[in-house]
Amino acid sequence: MSSSLNLEKNMSLLSPDQVEIAKMLLEIGQGHLFQDWPDPGVDDDLKQTFFTQVALLNSSYPGGLVSYIKTAKELLADSKAGKNPFDGFKPSVPSGEVLTLGDETFIKYEEAGVKQVQNAAFVLVAGGLGERLGYNGIKVALPMETTTGTCFLQHYIESILCLSEASYKQTQGECQRDVPFVIMTSDDTHARTLELLESNSYFGMKPTQVKLLKQEKVACLADNDARLAVDPKNKYIIQTKPHGHGDVHSLLYSSGLLREWKEAGLRWVMFFQDTNGLLFKAIPAALGVSATKEYHVNSLAVPRKAKEAIGGITKLTHADGREMVINVEYNQLDPLLRATGHPDGDVNCETGYSPYPGNINQLILELGPYIDELAKTGGVIKEFVNPKYKDATKTEFKSSTRLECMMQDYPKTLPPSARVGFTVTDPWLAYAPVKNNPEDAAKVPKGNPYHSATSGETAVYRSNSMILRKAGVKIDDPVTQVFNGQEVEIWPRIVWSPKWAVTFADVKRKVSGENSSVTQKSTLVIKGRNVLIEDLSLDGTLVIDSVDDAEVKVGGSVKNDGWAIESIDKDDTSLPEEVRIRGFKINKVDQLEKSYSEPGKYTVNL
Ligand code: UTP
Repeated sequence: MSSSLNLEKNMSLLSPDQVEIAKMLLEIGQGHLFQDWPDPGVDDDLKQTFFTQVALLNSSYPGGLVSYIKTAKELLADSKAGKNPFDGFKPSVPSGEVLTLGDETFIKYEEAGVKQVQNAAFVLVAGGLGERLGYNGIKVALPMETTTGTCFLQHYIESILCLSEASYKQTQGECQRDVPFVIMTSDDTHARTLELLESNSYFGMKPTQVKLLKQEKVACLADNDARLAVDPKNKYIIQTKPHGHGDVHSLLYSSGLLREWKEAGLRWVMFFQDTNGLLFKAIPAALGVSATKEYHVNSLAVPRKAKEAIGGITKLTHADGREMVINVEYNQLDPLLRATGHPDGDVNCETGYSPYPGNINQLILELGPYIDELAKTGGVIKEFVNPKYKDATKTEFKSSTRLECMMQDYPKTLPPSARVGFTVTDPWLAYAPVKNNPEDAAKVPKGNPYHSATSGETAVYRSNSMILRKAGVKIDDPVTQVFNGQEVEIWPRIVWSPKWAVTFADVKRKVSGENSSVTQKSTLVIKGRNVLIEDLSLDGTLVIDSVDDAEVKVGGSVKNDGWAIESIDKDDTSLPEEVRIRGFKINKVDQLEKSYSEPGKYTVNL
């Protein structure tokens, strides 16, 4: 029995809208979906579910399924033909700013950036499944570090609130703006993200300030003709998979938020990812670079060793005049350079790093040009397809595939006149994501970043220690230890709340005297806003908290057994998963805790 006959027999069950959808499916070569449909009276409810799903797939993709299938056919044909997407383009190093924390330029940009925060909106993409990490919860609920147990989402929200307050104070604006914060979720993360926010009173943010935009999955493709893949267990369900973080652009556009922000006078949109505990250390300076250099697109980047397994930010110029500054994956960059007159490929330059900085997928876009561009594209980002073929004939897939898109591919459609640049910061300052499970992280070749829960947490201590060092505190060198098969540097566990410092200038202001020191085994937790460190010598654990109206000057000497960082067995199921994925826990043996709950000025000589 032919598919269309099966469908015809079921027509009486369909609403006029469903009839239109059915016709559209036949026109785009999807008749196989009805192939095994029984007569009316059998599975009628499931047939309705089928149409509900197709209607959602159709409405949530810009241009609908017609457009999805058309693009899929083209991309699948290119993939089969082995077409290189960068054919005809010549790579060169784009222009950008390279910053070193604490030097004059850094401080100047940081100051300029803080001023801009009142005009910024923050967008967190947090719809990813996190398959590589394999954590059972959502990634933003993971502790960023286990000294205080602060989760990523709390840290992000508190950083935004404190930066916005600092911005307001600096600009002396008429009233402090509630800086908007958008979180892109997916079916995999939405309910749990909302629950985390609600059960923690939005970590101090006004609920009206936070908007969750849920991305939908896209239909899977079974073959090179872009025929939709059906669930093997249920012929009324089309298989779906995530479309990638590039969805954030079309969602922001269709939500109407961008226009709202423009009308409210905002100028910047800052995009960031779910598990980077360091990013906010670089945001003020990077925003300052955007404002000073008038970048429409500013990609935050880190120094990258030649051939290191992260994408390089590259300027690509085509003989036909096309030009773009874009992330080129590391496995494409080296061959592209070799094929275009650079016989050595991707090599380090005199700085010891590749001249192509490493993309960390945190972007600052200028709102006006961003809206103009999205008005042209509807927020559609150039997609790609990555089918796993059964054999070299490339005729069959091992499993169904789908189109995907990436947030950082936004500049691909920009005209050559667009101002696209990058901001590189110190390698230890801005990027330490938690993406890999312990087993995979342990297999990472020596010298390459682990991107695990172990390295994510230890990087926070390293970065804070380095910052305090730059501010004049004598910090002991780290020791090297192995946790979950990964060799990491263990610096003193220094953690502060964003209330205490959101910029290097804040840290400098709050640390004085020539004689402050922290030993390697120490832990320093600063929770209070106006805690001033002056000639403090710490060999153990000190936790200081104070109400906002108190100013506490802390000096003297603290010595106790402190908090030890102890190795644990990742397979010990009596421990929580958040601990096991790190391979260590903090054993709180002894500490000095100081808390000031009344306003006033205090000088404490410990
Ligand atoms: P990752 O590269 O970490 O991917 O995404 P992932 O999907 O979370 O994890 P794997 O690949 O399954 O291991 C980078 C950022 O983009 C978000 C993630 O939440 C993370 O912040 N993301 C990813 C989305 O918002 N949507 C997606 O469809 C994919």
